[in-house]
Amino acid sequence: MDLASAKSAVKDLFSVLPAQDQASFMEWIHSQSVETILTSNKVTKNGCSEESLQILESIRLDLQDSLPIDCTFDSESITLPKASEVCAGDIRAVQHVDSFVYDEDDLNLACADGKFAQSYCRTCGSKDIDDIDFISHSFSVEQVKFICTHLLPGGSSLPVLLDIGSRTGALLYGATLFGSVKRCIGIEISTDFANLSRRLVDKYSLEESITIINDDILHCADYIQQADVVIMNNVFEFFCNTEQQTRLWRFCLEKIREKPGAVLITVPAVQQSLSSISMEYDLSFLKPRSIEEDINHYLLSNPSKGALSLDTLHRIHMYIVE
Ligand SMILES: C[S@@+](CC[C@H](N)C(=O)[O-])C[C@H]1O[C@@H](n2cnc3c(N)ncnc32)[C@H](O)[C@@H]1O
Repeated sequence: MDLASAKSAVKDLFSVLPAQDQASFMEWIHSQSVETILTSNKVTKNGCSEESLQILESIRLDLQDSLPIDCTFDSESITLPKASEVCAGDIRAVQHVDSFVYDEDDLNLACADGKFAQSYCRTCGSKDIDDIDFISHSFSVEQVKFICTHLLPGGSSLPVLLDIGSRTGALLYGATLFGSVKRCIGIEISTDFANLSRRLVDKYSLEESITIINDDILHCADYIQQADVVIMNNVFEFFCNTEQQTRLWRFCLEKIREKPGAVLITVPAVQQSLSSISMEYDLSFLKPRSIEEDINHYLLSNPSKGALSLDTLHRIHMYIVE
């Protein structure tokens, strides 16, 4: 059967199906196609399959429908870290963004439409303007693709991946669509983000691979112990005060160090996160693993990406627990 006949057969089926069952039938067809892609269309080391990229793009567009341009919920209290290198502590100079949901092109469009500013007035009413610092609360699509196709460990036994602070679930979708993982777990303290990502997991029939837990990581020691790969992307810096961050980092590091052989992927470097809260901790159990070669390899297979990718990919750090 060719594609045209398949389409015509589906139309015929549709025409004899009772109206009340048509929506469920369409949902079933959709879930079948996602399942087929997941089982038969895994990515090669060099790139991501077209179908998987399309699903990720569709998830991104769904997230745009559910989130405002700054991708925050009113229920969240996002703070500026004390020792922040951004914005010199001036809240007007900061714009929260989410590089996964709204990429650079989306933000440029929003700026052109006047929904979003790239500069702010330092002295109200004057022309004394300065650039706004953009703080992204998630990995970009590029970072997701790079991590999932080049940094996740291969081998015969598939890893369990844990994203501490999974937010929209960006990394979890990427790992499921492009990587080889046994299971992905996202722990997210925000109920709004946990519910949003659960809805998408459900919509794209990804429940077998992705579990979202709505909780504080402090209550989730078991999940850290199960994980072969732990992801921590700017996880506490903008969401907790220094005292809370110190407690959270100590807890996570204590648990991660109990799992020799596990992989830890962070943004920024762990030492930088600890320095920003003046926290001392013996990190000798974390062996840094250079990702230079992986970046070069990724850029070779994605030549259109260039300087922008290079900068964002270099923010990623990888460690092996010894
Ligand atoms: C910068 S976002 C990271 C998003 C995601 N990992 C990614 O890279 O796309 C950090 C997330 O961590 C969550 N978070 C902060 N403190 C947490 C905690 N104690 N337990 C669980 N999640 C937490 C925040 O609500 C936020 O959604």
